[in-house]
Amino acid sequence: MQRLFSKTFILTVFTASLILVPWVRSARADDAGPGGPPYPNDAGEAQVDVSQYPSEIQADYKIFARRCTQCHSLSRPINSQFLQLTSDEQKTAHEKEPDLFTDNKIWQISDSVWTDYVKKMQSKPGAIIRASEFDKIVAFLVYDSKTRKTGAAKNTWPVTRQKLLDDFKKSNPKRYAEIFGK
Ligand code: HEC
Repeated sequence: MQRLFSKTFILTVFTASLILVPWVRSARADDAGPGGPPYPNDAGEAQVDVSQYPSEIQADYKIFARRCTQCHSLSRPINSQFLQLTSDEQKTAHEKEPDLFTDNKIWQISDSVWTDYVKKMQSKPGAIIRASEFDKIVAFLVYDSKTRKTGAAKNTWPVTRQKLLDDFKKSNPKRYAEIFGK
């Protein structure tokens, strides 16, 4: 009798696990894994053509590409609105490229936006970003954002970014509102 009971017990636990495991998994899937919920950025390019960049920035790109793809794709940072400009660069931009300050969904500017963000990413559980890699990743992001979002690229970047925003707003209006508030 004892044996029969334990067989029934095992069978019950087994059956329960068949029901419960997928249920627990799907609850987790709503959390969307280590990269968190989606961003408009995610649908854009997942690599940068760095062939025209200075050689040290090309080396920094390799570290960035290795470390920042652990939880989400490289599209997340590449298509971000973040633009890090020193206060002097911001002064010049206010005079010469005032467009940069018209929509912070396209250009979100501060003198530490990338430094702060890489710090935030580094502190996430499981993130592998060594102290010696920190400045290199930031150096890449600062250089790359200036190159692809200002100057000669000032007119192409907003088109690329706006399309990502529009598509995302259509396909995922709830999440769009969560990020941008409207
Ligand atoms: C340990 C996992 C992990 C790693 C590693 C990681 N990220 Fe993230 N990243 C996230 C999560 C989760 C989010 C969603 C926002 C949040 O939870 O802070 C995110 C969001 C982002 C965003 C969107 C921010 C916004 O508000 O638009 C950018 C940009 C970003 N990450 C850049 C990076 C960069 C650059 C690196 C490498 C230095 C990196 N991530 C490495 C987990 C990670």
